[in-house]
Amino acid sequence: MKVIVTESFAESCQLVAQEIIDVVNQNPAAKLGLATGGTAEQVYPHLVKAYQDGKVDFSGISTVNLDEYMGMSPEHPVSYRKCMDTWFFDQVNVDKSRTYVANGLNDPEAEIAAFNEKLYGDKMLDFQLLGVGVSGHIGFNEAGEYLTAGVHIEQLDESTIQANSRYFDSPDDVPRQSITMGVGDIMKAEKIVLIATGDSKVPVMKRLLADDRVSADLPVSVLKLHRDATIVIDRELYEKATR
Ligand code: PGA
Repeated sequence: MKVIVTESFAESCQLVAQEIIDVVNQNPAAKLGLATGGTAEQVYPHLVKAYQDGKVDFSGISTVNLDEYMGMSPEHPVSYRKCMDTWFFDQVNVDKSRTYVANGLNDPEAEIAAFNEKLYGDKMLDFQLLGVGVSGHIGFNEAGEYLTAGVHIEQLDESTIQANSRYFDSPDDVPRQSITMGVGDIMKAEKIVLIATGDSKVPVMKRLLADDRVSADLPVSVLKLHRDATIVIDRELYEKATR
């Protein structure tokens, strides 16, 4: 696992966007694993700008998103489908029929099968973008006694419910369940880039960077086992996490 320390969060976003642009420019038919969340959200404007400036063409890509809330309509304003459409898909020339964000209203078993078909039906992910939760989750793979390899339904951690409640009227409105890629699905991507910033991520980064251990209690630590995983954090976060 490589760690890149930038001078600012803005620089981190620019750098991560450039990684994605490079993947697509090298392989116009790239299959991208995408992420939502307040951190990843800031990466997409750079992709949109690069598209508008003619520096990248998204017409040949396909995408699979990490996760979605269960029980939530794709039309809901904070569904991850809606976020992806608004932040990225509707602003560039991607073929939306080749974008997949799980449908939280579907029968769970049927949607898990559909998710697997999108992940493995043609080819593997060339790239996976990640954020990290205050719980240490990647996708919605929460910390616990064990991790799950494949696509599954996951109960949200209490800390995730609290963190995500900022998008809802109250914590009671945050869905309790999600459908998510498992850690094995994420780890099969050719290249992984994680972006993190802010004081709420200091405890997680502190644990991640403290040693060489991999633990189900800190899901993001599995990235230490990947041959091409990079963590991009700004100096402020890096210094708070390593002092
Ligand atoms: P955040 O979410 O960027 O909104 O902190 C990241 C995540 O939960 O993966």
